[in-house]
Amino acid sequence: MNHIQTSASLVVEELKLILGDRLATSNAVREHHSHDTSWLAPHMPDAVAFPRDEDEVVAIVRACAKHGVPVVPFGAGSSMEGHTIPVRGGVTIDTREMNRIVEIRPEDGLAVVQAGVTRKQLNEELRATGLMFSVDPGADASLGGMASTRGSGTTAVRYGTMRENVMALRVVTPDGTPIHTGSRARKSSTGYDLTHLFVGAEGTLGLITELTVRLHPIPEMVSSAVCAFEDVGEAVQAVIETVQYGIPVARVEFMDEVAIEGTNAYSGLDLKVTPTLFFEFHGTPAWVDEQSRLVAEIASGHGGSDFRWSTDPDERAKLWQARHDIYWATKAQRPGCELFTGDICVPISRLAESIVAAREDIDASFLKGQIIGHVGDGNYHTAYLIDPNSKEELEEAERLSGLLVERALAVGGTASGEHGIGMGKIKYLRKEHGAAVDVMKRIKAALDPAGIMNPGKMGQEG
Ligand code: MLT
Ligand code: ZN
Repeated sequence: MNHIQTSASLVVEELKLILGDRLATSNAVREHHSHDTSWLAPHMPDAVAFPRDEDEVVAIVRACAKHGVPVVPFGAGSSMEGHTIPVRGGVTIDTREMNRIVEIRPEDGLAVVQAGVTRKQLNEELRATGLMFSVDPGADASLGGMASTRGSGTTAVRYGTMRENVMALRVVTPDGTPIHTGSRARKSSTGYDLTHLFVGAEGTLGLITELTVRLHPIPEMVSSAVCAFEDVGEAVQAVIETVQYGIPVARVEFMDEVAIEGTNAYSGLDLKVTPTLFFEFHGTPAWVDEQSRLVAEIASGHGGSDFRWSTDPDERAKLWQARHDIYWATKAQRPGCELFTGDICVPISRLAESIVAAREDIDASFLKGQIIGHVGDGNYHTAYLIDPNSKEELEEAERLSGLLVERALAVGGTASGEHGIGMGKIKYLRKEHGAAVDVMKRIKAALDPAGIMNPGKMGQEG
C-alpha cells in the first residue's frame, strides 16, 4: 500500500460514519467514476461519496484535507477531456443527490440550485413560470459540472455560456471552508470576481455546491430551418454574414457531410448528404418571420438550398435530438472506436478558412473524421474515430489536433471553446496563455497548497 492508499483507507473509515451507504467502495461504482466520455485511460477512485448537502461536502473535504487525499468532483460524467478521471485515486464526490432546486425567483429572473441539478430537471421545473435556463451543451449535464467547465453549446450564440449565466456560487474550498461568491444583483463592483474564478476552474480550486443562475423568457415563437450547401466554405460564409449583420439567431449549427451521413443512419433522418446549417429563431411571430427571411436571403446568396422550415415542436425536437445525439451517431460509425475531439474557437472572421483547413487535414489523413460546430460563436468540433489501443491512430489524432490548435492560436483563437482543458488539452494551456499559466499556478498553490483538489489537472501542469 502506498501513502495515499493508506490515508484513503483512513478517510473511508471516517466518512463511512458520516455517510453510511452513501460512501461506496464497490468495484462497480468506482469503475463508473473512473472515466468520462473521452478516449483517455480510466483510473479508479478509492471511494465515491454521495453527499446531500453542503455540510456533508465540508465534512468530506475536511477529512480528505486532513489526510492529504485527493478530492475529485463528479456531476453527470458527461465531460469530454478527462476532467473527472481520478488520476491519483482518492475520493470522488458525486453530486447526483444534491439535486434540490432551492429557489426560483421569476420576478428577478434567477434560480438557486444545488450543484447536482441537471439542466433538463431545472427546465422541467421552470415550465410553468414562462422562463427557461438557456445553456444547452447537449448532454443532460449537471449545472455544477457545466459551471466547472465553463460549458455552453447550441444556444450560447444568443444567450451566452455559463460565464454569462452564473451570477453567484457557493463553494467549498480545499481546506473545507464554505464560501459564497457573487450576489443576486444584476451587477456588482465589489471584490475580486471569484464567481468567474471558479467558473471554468474544473474543480481544481474548490467544489461548487450551489449556483444562482440567470433565467430567460421562453420565446413566444420558435422556428427552425435546415439548409443544405454545396460547399463548406460557402456555408460558413453564410454564418459569418448572419453574425456580422447582427441577426440574433438563437442557434446556428454546422454539420459537414460525414456528420450528416452518420446522423441520417443513427437518427433515421433523410437529410441531403452535404454541408448543412441548422438554424433556430426566437421571438414574436413577426420578428421570427423577419429573421428567417433575412437569413434565407443570406444563405441563398451562398448557394444555400433545400430550406426546410418547421415551427412544429415535435419536428423541431426530433431535429435537435438528432443534433444532440451526434456523439453516439459518430461512435456508431465505427463500432468499438473512441472519439478524439477538437473544440477550437476562433474570431468569426477567420472561421471559414479554419474549417476548410481542418477538413483538408482530415481528408489527407488515414483517419476518418467529421466536423460539427456552434459556428455562430466561431466554435467547432472535429471528431476523429480512433481505436485507442492503436499507437499509430492516437499519434495521428494528436498530430491533427495539434495542427488545428496551432492554427486557431495563430489567429487569436483558443484551444477549447467549451469542452475545457481536462487532461486531453492540458498541453496547449501554456501555448495559449504563456506566462499567465504561472499566475494560474500561483492561484492554485495559494488556494490549494496541498494540491488535493482534482490533482493532475489545471494549475499543476509543467
Ligand atoms: C456537441 O456540440 O455536441 C458537444 O460539444 C459534444 C461533441 O463535441 O460531440
Ligand atoms: Zn459542442
